[in-house]
Amino acid sequence: MSELSVNHLLGIKYITEADIQLIFETADQFKEVINRPIKKVPSLRDITIANLFFENSTRTRLSFELAEKRLSADTVNFSAASSSVKKGETLVDTVNNILSMKVDMVVMRHPNPGAGIYLSKHIGASIVNAGDGAHEHPTQALLDSYSIREKLGDVAGKKVVIVGDILHSRVALSNIFALQKLGATVKVCGPKTLIPKHIESLGVTYEPHLEKALNWCDVANMLRVQNERMDISYFPSTREYTQQFGLNKKILDNLNKEIVVMHPGPINRGVEITSDVADSKQSIILNQVENGVAVRMAVLYLLASKIQRNEN
Ligand code: CP
Repeated sequence: MSELSVNHLLGIKYITEADIQLIFETADQFKEVINRPIKKVPSLRDITIANLFFENSTRTRLSFELAEKRLSADTVNFSAASSSVKKGETLVDTVNNILSMKVDMVVMRHPNPGAGIYLSKHIGASIVNAGDGAHEHPTQALLDSYSIREKLGDVAGKKVVIVGDILHSRVALSNIFALQKLGATVKVCGPKTLIPKHIESLGVTYEPHLEKALNWCDVANMLRVQNERMDISYFPSTREYTQQFGLNKKILDNLNKEIVVMHPGPINRGVEITSDVADSKQSIILNQVENGVAVRMAVLYLLASKIQRNEN
């Protein structure tokens, strides 16, 4: 019987290529389900999931909530802004209180890197990391690689450039791990100040010129400049950033090949990518969002299957 090698999804670093392939094959089946007139299956009818968001989210939160509804799970939603965290309650106390209400799984976004790993050592429920600070965003990387596989047939052998704020990006780190496990070659591009000093130790090369990087790649993943994670200025001005690292239609049309354009969202239109590129036929940004539901259904289903097997 195929099952995941892990009981939690804390990061792509901690799962195997076989885990990723199993998630993709399961997501293929769920993608077929969510395109039917009746989009629901009873797979998680006995499972209760808590969605704990200690940080803002649109796509990830809605995508998990929809995935859970499509799988018939019972859900509770928690937002830090309106909770007793504001009164000084610790993370472990908050989560243990929620778990005492018989919750089986926790989907958590948290501003602190490693929050999910810490929690997994203190609670009994299965944890899915929905983004932890600048550390990992595993389901985003899974849906990104799944979308490349859908568009180009396979991830193995493809050349992917990740452009922008690599230093503060959990999306970049999780994508690097996922793409490499699946056999892609990865470059990063952006202002030197936004590239981690030891990026080469991850088996990634740095290309400082956007057009060179784009002419090399099959896929460009354009990241958002994360002003909220910057306590100092990493480049002279947004205008200069856009001039050097922004993707516009003129650059795209002048490349020596047709590349696929991705963005994890939320987009700063006119900063890292212009509207005509984001909305062009080369962009798969909305496919990424659509695939997020099927991929998250697969992750929840596979982790819940382990809980159900352990109970029987
Ligand atoms: N891509 C992503 O994580 O978006 P949200 O912050 O809106 O969830």
